[in-house]
Amino acid sequence: MNFVNEDIVTLNRISITNLLQEIGPDEVSAEIVAGLEADQKSISSKFFYNGDGSLLFEEITRLEEYYPTRTEKGILKQIAPKLMKQYKGYEIIELGPGDHSKISILLNAAAEMNPAFLRYLPLDISQPALRSSAESLVTAFPNLLVEGYAVDFFSQFGQIRREHPALICFFGSTIGNFEWTDSIELLRNISLQMKKGDVLLLGMDLVKPEALLHAAYNDAQGITDAFNKNILNTVNTLIHADFQTEHFDHLAFFNQEKSRMEMHLVANRDLSVHSPFFNEDLHLKEGEAIHTENSHKYNARHIQEIAEATGLKLNHTHTDEKGWFAVTEFQKL
Ligand code: AVI
Repeated sequence: MNFVNEDIVTLNRISITNLLQEIGPDEVSAEIVAGLEADQKSISSKFFYNGDGSLLFEEITRLEEYYPTRTEKGILKQIAPKLMKQYKGYEIIELGPGDHSKISILLNAAAEMNPAFLRYLPLDISQPALRSSAESLVTAFPNLLVEGYAVDFFSQFGQIRREHPALICFFGSTIGNFEWTDSIELLRNISLQMKKGDVLLLGMDLVKPEALLHAAYNDAQGITDAFNKNILNTVNTLIHADFQTEHFDHLAFFNQEKSRMEMHLVANRDLSVHSPFFNEDLHLKEGEAIHTENSHKYNARHIQEIAEATGLKLNHTHTDEKGWFAVTEFQKL
């Protein structure tokens, strides 16, 4: 295997293993340039989450209009006691744990009913985020062992040292940010690594009246607008370009056919952008858009299709009372 490094840092009840393959700056710039020079210009949504972008996303999760975070947490609070009883003794794996507030709901329920040691394996691309989150968690939960992995879970899920049985959590409807075919590939890959009895808990944002979706991605305070435009600052840093955020407008709308919210940045004038990585300056006409994000919204048919494509059994779809969000429980038979 071609790892640049595999560091294991072991602290009291915490170990963090770095399995990330170093991606060279050339690969990153080539990906950005290819997206911008294509007929339909795009920037991958993974570039949203630099320092400022992550802070803006945290702000979004607290907005009145942005219902997914609080709705999912509400569902988790409802189901945690029963779930942790049913899957007692399971180790917990979490993909993209974020601020660990969601997993804490499950860990609290587990701690209340089972004083035994519990293994928690968060998988994230940021090693510092894993470490600071692990430190808070072992302080809060005296019987918790945290084995974090800095990995790209899309390609490296099979490389983590896991035991069986496992409860695999993938919250936040992050799955919805992948193209449908990529999301199926990721979930199939996870399913292939699951052993009999293992469970996948998948947070999925559901289809709902368009006005609610529209408001969630066009908040009154303009935080989502700033989050969307901030991707240009990241691109400027990575490819030494001179995008000016004020030359673009935020656009977010529901694409009915693809059942997804889409975010774009639309040029509000004819403009040129320079980067030493472009073959020639990039020209955008007024009204031309750069596609920055997809956020799929699911219905019962999509959930069934996931079960069929992965071969997992859909045990339960846990939803809130308004039916806005689902935490789906799939099991390997
Ligand atoms: C991280 N992800 C699930 C969010 C979403 O809703 O698709 C990102 C986001 N984009 C705009 N607002 C929030």
